Amino acid sequence: MRQIYLDNAATTHLDPQVLEAMLPFFQHTAGNASALHRCGVTAAKGIEQARAQIAQSLNAQPEEIFFTSGGTEANNLALKGAAFAAQERGNHLITSNVEHPSVLQTCRWLATKGFELTVVPVNAEGLLTAGQVRQALRKDTILVSVMQVNNEIGTLQPVKAIGELCRKRGIYFHSDACQGFTKVSLDVKAQNLDLVTLNAHKVHGPLGVGALYIRKGITMEAQMHGGAQEQGLRSGTINTPGIVGFGKAAALEDSEAVRGMTELRDYFIKLVESRIPGARLNGSRDRRICNNINFSFGAGVAGKSLMLELDKRGITVSSGSACSARSLKPSKVLLAIGLSEAEAHSAIRFSLSKWTTRQEMELTAQILEEIVRNLRGANA
Ligand SMILES: Cc1ncc(COP(=O)(O)O)c(C=O)c1O
Repeated sequence: MRQIYLDNAATTHLDPQVLEAMLPFFQHTAGNASALHRCGVTAAKGIEQARAQIAQSLNAQPEEIFFTSGGTEANNLALKGAAFAAQERGNHLITSNVEHPSVLQTCRWLATKGFELTVVPVNAEGLLTAGQVRQALRKDTILVSVMQVNNEIGTLQPVKAIGELCRKRGIYFHSDACQGFTKVSLDVKAQNLDLVTLNAHKVHGPLGVGALYIRKGITMEAQMHGGAQEQGLRSGTINTPGIVGFGKAAALEDSEAVRGMTELRDYFIKLVESRIPGARLNGSRDRRICNNINFSFGAGVAGKSLMLELDKRGITVSSGSACSARSLKPSKVLLAIGLSEAEAHSAIRFSLSKWTTRQEMELTAQILEEIVRNLRGANA
């Protein structure tokens, strides 16, 4: 059966060029990157090339990039590592109410360990302002964490303005950039970022690899102890093939593809709005990442049923963020932007990739219209 894959915000398909770059490092040429023999040196060279590729895409220095097992671990390291290291300066943390669970739950956990947490609410578009962050600041604030792009509704947060605010006051600013990496401009210097989380599997790289950018001079407390890899901050034998693939994926950044996705996104939004009465676009129309479309269809259309019906017809979408897709609870992000539980349950996220075509989006709109009509009819 033909497959139209529109769940790229959950994970992307591996780019063949990435696989090609990784293959030698799964085979006989590479050893443990910590070893001094030739196999080890080959592995270490692959890793250092990837570190440089990722650093380049953020305008950072290679030694400011620390590899992890993914975005979740990088978020944990950023928040726990910075908070514990800065504890003598203060104990107040700020984040938003639409962060990925790996940020929000980590902050909540820190709040059980002696830190105080302020969770700033977003508006109906999922947007937070630098002014709100300013109001939440206290004398003892040490760390602010606001994501670059929301994973469910694609809203772009004003990271540059928040970065400027934090830098002036000497407060660390962390941003989870997993969704925006290679699609939204990311410049750690221009945007005053201190800590940035990235992962590979959202950018056509492999699963199980991430990175944390840590601005030079920031003291961090290691969260993983052992062989002192990654400058002692993240012990564990380094995942050479994964990291090499991550570096290659970062280097494939393509502004033409971003333009193409933006056009397709807007085209699909128009198609849905003109064909399906009552379809409501969640998130912001203009402050939105190029590949995210999130619609709710109103009570009477369960997002889960819609997702499963689309799946039967070969169209892969998500009825909420992948991390919570198995739970029947409504999406916290959709509730945070003011949707009722019923509206939140009727939401579907379509997330495009550089390979998505116009024909695929037209067919998706047509099949979607049919399914929504049937579901509404069945529940009338
Ligand atoms: C915004 C955001 N942060 C963090 C993560 C977690 O990343 P990983 O799956 O690499 O642990 C994801 C992916 O689900 C995400 O979308």
